[in-house]
Amino acid sequence: MRHNIAVLLSGNGSNLRAIIDKGLEVSFVASNNPKALGLKIAKNANIPSYSWKNVSILEKEVLKLIIDYDVKLLALAGYMRLLSKNFVNSLPSKFIVNIHPSLLPKYKGMNAIKQAIEDSAEYTGVTIHHVDVEMDSGYIIKQERIKINENDTAKSLKDRLQKIEHRLYFETIKFILNKKKKD
Ligand code: GAR
Repeated sequence: MRHNIAVLLSGNGSNLRAIIDKGLEVSFVASNNPKALGLKIAKNANIPSYSWKNVSILEKEVLKLIIDYDVKLLALAGYMRLLSKNFVNSLPSKFIVNIHPSLLPKYKGMNAIKQAIEDSAEYTGVTIHHVDVEMDSGYIIKQERIKINENDTAKSLKDRLQKIEHRLYFETIKFILNKKKKD
């Protein structure tokens, strides 16, 4: 069964891998980084993959691909660029989802995990939200909290957060797709 989701990423693609491994079919993957490991993951899974360094070209092409592949949901999985207003407003509301390694609205942007440690926060977590025109903003769909241990480093905390991400992103995307089917 095709799930008609597309993924935008800039880096490692561990969330993409988790989504694929758990059985969601991805229509295409696109990146602003031609060297992103996530593109290799897509290729190995026989998923069409594209990259454009120029993000305004990327956005134009992705909008066309969304129509060509009849995509129903666009998932950002470590896409480290802010989407333009024009791009976001060209798509139906709640069409784009993002995953972020903090309890938003805390620690937006890059280095969210480092920010939490430097802040000596007691808790941090994972947020999945719909994307609007602001950075790491938009309606929060799901959050999961974890305690930061005294001996946590950015690396150990990232490892624990990513374990959560890999389960939670799949579950949440599945939930959204099922809900869309019923609407
Ligand atoms: C993930 O931890 C995701 O939450 C974060 O980038 C990582 C990508 O990992 N996204 C953001 O910080 C968005 N602001 P991955 O490439 O291994 O999936």
